[in-house]
Amino acid sequence: MRKRLRAHTYGAVTNNIVRASEEAIERAARLLRMGELVAFPTETVYGLGGDATSEEAVARIFAAKGRPRFNPLIVHLPGLAEAEALAVFDERARMAALRFWPGPLSLVLPRRPESGLSLLASAGLDTVALRAPAHPVAQALLHAAGRPIAAPSANRSGRVSPTTAAHVAAEFEDPHPPIARAMGPPLSRNAGEGKSGAAPRTIARTAGEGASGRSPEAGEGLGPAMILDAGPCLVGIESTVLDLTGPTPELLRAGGVPLEELREVFGDIEVAAPDEVAPRAPGWLASHYAPGRPVRLDAMDARPGEALLAFGPEAAPGFAEVLFLSRSGDLGEAAANLFAMLRRLDRPEVAGIAVMSIPEIGLGRAINDRLGRAAAPKP
Ligand code: TXA
Ligand code: MG
Repeated sequence: MRKRLRAHTYGAVTNNIVRASEEAIERAARLLRMGELVAFPTETVYGLGGDATSEEAVARIFAAKGRPRFNPLIVHLPGLAEAEALAVFDERARMAALRFWPGPLSLVLPRRPESGLSLLASAGLDTVALRAPAHPVAQALLHAAGRPIAAPSANRSGRVSPTTAAHVAAEFEDPHPPIARAMGPPLSRNAGEGKSGAAPRTIARTAGEGASGRSPEAGEGLGPAMILDAGPCLVGIESTVLDLTGPTPELLRAGGVPLEELREVFGDIEVAAPDEVAPRAPGWLASHYAPGRPVRLDAMDARPGEALLAFGPEAAPGFAEVLFLSRSGDLGEAAANLFAMLRRLDRPEVAGIAVMSIPEIGLGRAINDRLGRAAAPKP
């Protein structure tokens, strides 16, 4: 039974994986303009994209991910010119964009009231997170779509981010995935009301979802209409999220642009403690990026049945399986391998995933942040 179901749903989804040719990108852009969801590669991770100006499309993203509605999305644009129409850029923000865009940096800025962005994308906040991704396929898609695209990582809420098209397909193949239970209250401007044009099934779902304040059960059957495939993501870890709405720039999420590089430009940067971030971006649940197997950090020796994620040339003996994040101790290589290797080890015959310690510098900060959440007790 299980096998038949899997084969069926897997087939349905993998048929949607399309090599990112020019023609495929055009088709994907058309789907986005119609309010459909498209998964696409960025240099960080694959995103689950939807028209950021459409409440219905954005509601579909939340439903497909099973994402709590209080957790805002990042809006993607080709560059600074398009971004300035949506948010207020001061000198610092302009400097950040000129220095790091296109690239793995998301800027939280005051949202222009006339931006036309879905309120749900910002989870009702008066700020918006903007990013211009560097990946050529993402750039081509954003140009072709001709509108801002909201795109969280293309995984079910609370799970490991996808760095290949196959990871995306796997996320949306399972009709009953384990998802975060905490769902937010409905927002005042509800998705599903207003504009027409969405498929009836979507209106029905999002309306029901708004009424109860919960996403439907893991957004069954609501995966992307198409998955654009351009191979593995080079950075492999999500963008750095930098809040520029206060007097001092504040790091909300460590990511692809290391804190050290931001400090070179800005000097002083506050690093938000997870608890401080919680009220503003409560997507910062302690447990996130969580594989099914227990994750144990700073491992020095093996416990029965454990697999190891090693960093550096040596691995302690006794592990059932060893994958090297980077034999040469290169943090960029380790970041690029992290999510794919967590997925590979997340199998029933593996008792647990042990991880060697990673230095807390450069990209190591982002790696340790994700590992910390992967190891956190699940709600
Ligand atoms: O690399 C990335 O950023 C990827 C690719 C697809 O671009 N996207 C991604 O999105 O990681 P997501 O939704 O998985 O993470 C977005 C993070 C969330 O933790 C959210 O809370 C935060 O950004 N965020 C978004 N808008 C915000 C806002 N207005 N204020 C504070 N935090 C915000
Ligand atoms: Mg994510």
